Amino acid sequence: MMKRKAAVFASGTGSNFSAIMEAGSLGCDIVLLFSDNPSAKVLQKAEGFSVSSQAFSPKSFVNKEAYEKEILRLLQEHDIEWIFLAGYMRLIGSVLLEKYEGRIVNIHPSYLPQFPGKDAIDQAIEAGANETGVTIHYVDAGMDTGPIIRQEKIAINKEDTKATLAERIHKLEHQMYPEVIRQLMKK
Ligand code: GRF
Repeated sequence: MMKRKAAVFASGTGSNFSAIMEAGSLGCDIVLLFSDNPSAKVLQKAEGFSVSSQAFSPKSFVNKEAYEKEILRLLQEHDIEWIFLAGYMRLIGSVLLEKYEGRIVNIHPSYLPQFPGKDAIDQAIEAGANETGVTIHYVDAGMDTGPIIRQEKIAINKEDTKATLAERIHKLEHQMYPEVIRQLMKK
């Protein structure tokens, strides 16, 4: 049987993308990496894993709809069924939601609904919180608001800096994301 095909969307470093690629059998094939940032480091990682990649910025389009229509064309060309956001720093708009809602997943570095949006790790430290976490959820039109699939907590110690906390969060993310994908692909 042909495996389902999936794409990862990322804007930056791509450590989650690497963790997904290195996790072994997922029940789907990651055949495409899309980035909205043509100079993102994740693009080199895709090359290393021999995954097709495409990058274009929304700034090259008249509006978000035109930008997403181009992404949609790309997804259809690769027969993509699922989209995994891994540090994709943009809201998903109506063009992609209409076709993929329920099959777009995001990972966020906090225990949602706490600390949504950008810089969630900084937010947790600045708030003086004693715990935060990692959440994997379905994507809807809001900012980090879709139905939660799985979430786990992480304690924040007094000695934690952004760097030490981020390291623990990323380690947990890298374990959780492949596991959740595997679980979703069994359905
Ligand atoms: C991760 O912390 C993820 O939760 C958030 O963006 C970060 C991406 O990191 N959405 P990386 O590019 O996967 O290293």
